Amino acid sequence: MKVVSLLPDFGWPAFQGAARALYAMVVEQHIDAITIDLRAVQRAFPNGVVPLVVLLNQYRKNLGVHFGAMLPDSTDVARIFDTQNWAAHLFPDHGFPLTNRPSALHRFSETTVNELINGHIRDALGQASYAQGVLQAFEWALNEIAGNALVHSGAPEAWMEVVVQRSARRMAIVVADGGLGIPETIRHAFPDKAPRDEDAIALALQEGITSKPDFGQGKGLTGTLAIVKANDGGRLSVHSAGGVVEWRDARLSIRPEFPPFQGTMVDIQLSIEQPIDIETALWGQGPVFPFNEALFGRETPLGVMRFVLAREASGFGNRLTGQQVRLKIENLLTSAPDHVLEVDFAGVELIASSFADEVFGKLALSLGFVGFSSRLRLIRLNKFCRGIIDDVVKSRIVQAHGNGAHGK
Ligand SMILES: Nc1ncnc2c1ncn2[C@@H]1O[C@H](COP(=O)(O)OP(=O)(O)O)[C@@H](O)[C@H]1O
Ligand SMILES: [Mg+2]
Repeated sequence: MKVVSLLPDFGWPAFQGAARALYAMVVEQHIDAITIDLRAVQRAFPNGVVPLVVLLNQYRKNLGVHFGAMLPDSTDVARIFDTQNWAAHLFPDHGFPLTNRPSALHRFSETTVNELINGHIRDALGQASYAQGVLQAFEWALNEIAGNALVHSGAPEAWMEVVVQRSARRMAIVVADGGLGIPETIRHAFPDKAPRDEDAIALALQEGITSKPDFGQGKGLTGTLAIVKANDGGRLSVHSAGGVVEWRDARLSIRPEFPPFQGTMVDIQLSIEQPIDIETALWGQGPVFPFNEALFGRETPLGVMRFVLAREASGFGNRLTGQQVRLKIENLLTSAPDHVLEVDFAGVELIASSFADEVFGKLALSLGFVGFSSRLRLIRLNKFCRGIIDDVVKSRIVQAHGNGAHGK
């Protein structure tokens, strides 16, 4: 049995090292049983793990290679391989656990992509607070890039991982497929325009360039690049076949890459505290509704979002739940400054004063009376909840006047 070992820092460069070793063993020496040795891994990143998932899947399916697993020696790192679904997707026949948590790695197909993306947005909303435009940009780009993997790659499935790094104030999105690759689809449509793989990727990133004119408009990759450029500290890399195009430190680089990656991997990193002017980035055609309507807008008129409280928790008895709910409401209000937010209490029989204060008391304090009453609309709440909320909001407003302050 042959062994391929990963470096302690398991990101894209470590993946490439492993890809080179695997190519030599599988393609040149026809070895069909290989152990992936992760024991030395100290830190792993989606842009290393996800392409390895794609590559092992190809060798397994196309050439019948069997992969053994040696998990990281560090128990902390090994636990991350479990909780992020990394072990489960790298070694699907080893019985590793698979979780539904949105922030783990997920395989997706046409039938699961929308629910997965919506789950990511709901999840991201409660993870951190975001500058204006960041969440819409995230939703827009994730839809475009995931859609591309399903529409253009020729492969029936792809993988995505979205990570919000609260302490670093960044978010990372990695989407990868093991399909045709951008150079092949682009050259098919523009035979003489891009002889080298990296030029084909650069061409695909230009506005209006599409290989399926009756289907797309060629805006997905350009728009994603525009979003990343509009976000101070934003980064994008598009790896496909033998090329990579990267936006980083406010510069675009177009380079060949070896070994080639059979498929496409898009790696987007945003700073969540830097606002994104999404209207300008997307040709003045930012989303009319701040988010996909299925999320916060079903059955509401334009200009109104709806936040269904009963979906957020099974009980509303404490401040911790309250903090989560307030964070989400604040993110929605920031994301859509011209929208009213309806908080729908249907199915909520009972809330505690501490919960009500944490959400509505503190919102009244930060928004002020006028802001609170013009931006929030509480609907379908029973007498009991109304009484509790009246009470906490009143005392917070009194407090604000008493201190002349609006701190927390
Ligand atoms: N995952 C992918 N696999 C293969 N080709 C891709 C992939 N993503 C993008 N492309 C190529 O890049 C082109 C531009 O993509 P995009 O800007 O999203 O526009 P559109 O999807 O409307 O064609 C696509 O038409 C396709 O040729
Ligand atoms: Mg597209």
